[in-house]
Amino acid sequence: MSVQPGRLLEKVSKEALSDPEKFWGEQAKSLVWERQWDSVLEWKPPFARWFSGGLLNASVNCLDRHISTDTKNKAAITWESEAGESRTLTYYQLYRQVNRLANALKDLSVQKGDRVTIYMPMVPELPVAMLACARIGATHSVVFSGFSSQALVDRVNDAKSKVILTADGSMRKGKLIDLKKVVDESLPQAPSVEHVVVFRRAGNPVSMGPRDVWWHEIVERAAPYCKPEMVASSHPLYILYTSGTTGKPKGVMHGTAGYLVHLYSTAKWVFDFQRSDIFFCTADIGWVTGHSYMVYAPLMHGVTEIMYDGAPDYPKPDRYWAVAEKHGATILYTTPTALRMYMKYGDSIPNSFDLSSLRLLGTVGEPINPEVWQWYFTTIGKEACPIIDTWWQTETGGIMLSACTGIDFVPMKPGSATLPVPGVDAAVVDESGRQVAPGTKGYLVVRRPWPGMLLSLWGDDEKYRNTYWSRFEGMYYPGDYALADKDGYLWLLGRADDVLKVAGHRLGTMELESAFVSHRDIAESAVAGRPDATKGESIIAFVVTKEGIEGSDALRKELVDHIRRTVGPIATPDEVYFVGKLPKTRSGKIMRRLLKSIASGDKIGDVTTLEDGAAIDEVKRAYEELKKAVG
Ligand code: WTA
Repeated sequence: MSVQPGRLLEKVSKEALSDPEKFWGEQAKSLVWERQWDSVLEWKPPFARWFSGGLLNASVNCLDRHISTDTKNKAAITWESEAGESRTLTYYQLYRQVNRLANALKDLSVQKGDRVTIYMPMVPELPVAMLACARIGATHSVVFSGFSSQALVDRVNDAKSKVILTADGSMRKGKLIDLKKVVDESLPQAPSVEHVVVFRRAGNPVSMGPRDVWWHEIVERAAPYCKPEMVASSHPLYILYTSGTTGKPKGVMHGTAGYLVHLYSTAKWVFDFQRSDIFFCTADIGWVTGHSYMVYAPLMHGVTEIMYDGAPDYPKPDRYWAVAEKHGATILYTTPTALRMYMKYGDSIPNSFDLSSLRLLGTVGEPINPEVWQWYFTTIGKEACPIIDTWWQTETGGIMLSACTGIDFVPMKPGSATLPVPGVDAAVVDESGRQVAPGTKGYLVVRRPWPGMLLSLWGDDEKYRNTYWSRFEGMYYPGDYALADKDGYLWLLGRADDVLKVAGHRLGTMELESAFVSHRDIAESAVAGRPDATKGESIIAFVVTKEGIEGSDALRKELVDHIRRTVGPIATPDEVYFVGKLPKTRSGKIMRRLLKSIASGDKIGDVTTLEDGAAIDEVKRAYEELKKAVG
């Protein structure tokens, strides 16, 4: 019997939306439970509690479930460094390490419900640390190792973490990044921290203070088996800080059962995981893609994953292809930014590798330009691998829009994130929340809760409600523009708010502005994004100096260093312009859209609501001058 493309997916999606509780209840049977749930969903808008009454443990779902099967001795993680060293950990070895570290953390008096910050390089011990926390019911908060001390301090203090797990260093582009030093700089401002656990990665001589302990020493002393702490379905598995429209990053809080069910199902549908798969996800675990599709989803499925620790273009702009060939990757999941970078170097580099093991190519994090999509499909996939464009967010926990090759084949459209995955009720609406006609730009919304949905923002239910559930009555607002075409395919059209996507990294303009004004010479600042051919967006800053301070090249350089030091190198501004005034509305709000137009070199629209007609001219003049100056 022949089935038309997409018919089966349509059927599954229809059934899922007609009775979501039945549908997700069925999906939940794929997890390992200590005690089954009483109800699939308790929905007290805007708070969803999935699988209430259930008891489980995330590390059991990722590890123990495999230990009594022949997956036990299979490679779980194959790690590869920039320098070309490799290391493989089997499921059993990973399980042993997690158990020992879990006991070691208990010995440091970490208990269920405590928060633990993980500030580590991309080594297998990073997932070990996350799973060890999960095993004892502690909530992990991974901080991207490219963040600097102020960003670390803010995140540690907000979560009130008891312990920080870090390393003696991280290697990036051949240089050592002294993570321990960043932690040491943060400690005087982080009173909740009782211990710092240091993993030896780089052989960097670090000074050990009274609170510091070596990872290898505490693990050596710890017992080899740790009984997993069974937690309630909504027990917070982790907090992950992400940027929004306010100055301070938000602590997105994910629960255990709903999150894992969402990941298990989406990995099966989207990546169509097979036992023989070698999954290469290039995300850093410091971001949500790494949490969901490098740690929890592949391990639950028992596949082998590749973990690459380094830059995509160091020592040569061939690393992803070299690693994919060396370890026989079958699925590659990466970002449009990385693909744009590789595309610039031409086809001969990827063509010099045997990439015939690949069967599926995924992308995430930003819209993918159709020409980049085409390149990915032709040069990398040799027209034999479907391209899976997945749209989702830190807050959604897992993939929300994507093709689902594990269910059915649907025709691909380059640049579209395809369709909502089964059980996800997404739509495009206008300002008043009414669904718009096909082909009309509007706001993407999700009209019903889904299992991977964030529980709340850490310690701030009100902000959670205001950020996501107040823009449109009864609907989740992700902050993205989108349109649906006549076939229902969704096309993402960029952020509708003040969030930038720089090389796929999410950064809030307000967060960067506070970093600028934390410099002693700066009175005011405004940050905007400018389209960038490789990074997607780049950071453009306009700053007003304090009375008596002159803008200069030296100050500009100092400001760039200041941002790199306080936020991190990912937030390096491309340009900093000194201006006398910022364009503001009559009520004193910075005119962001206007700034963005100036930064992007677009035509400037209506300026009638400007506080002072001169300000815009001033900004424009300064911009023109500087543009000339930088050539
Ligand atoms: C953007 C990353 C277009 C979007 C998993 C979203 C995308 C934000 C796509 C979340 C995609 C993510 N096409 N845009 N396939 N995937 N985005 O929290 O603006 O770092 O709201 O999560 O990235 O970024 P976050």
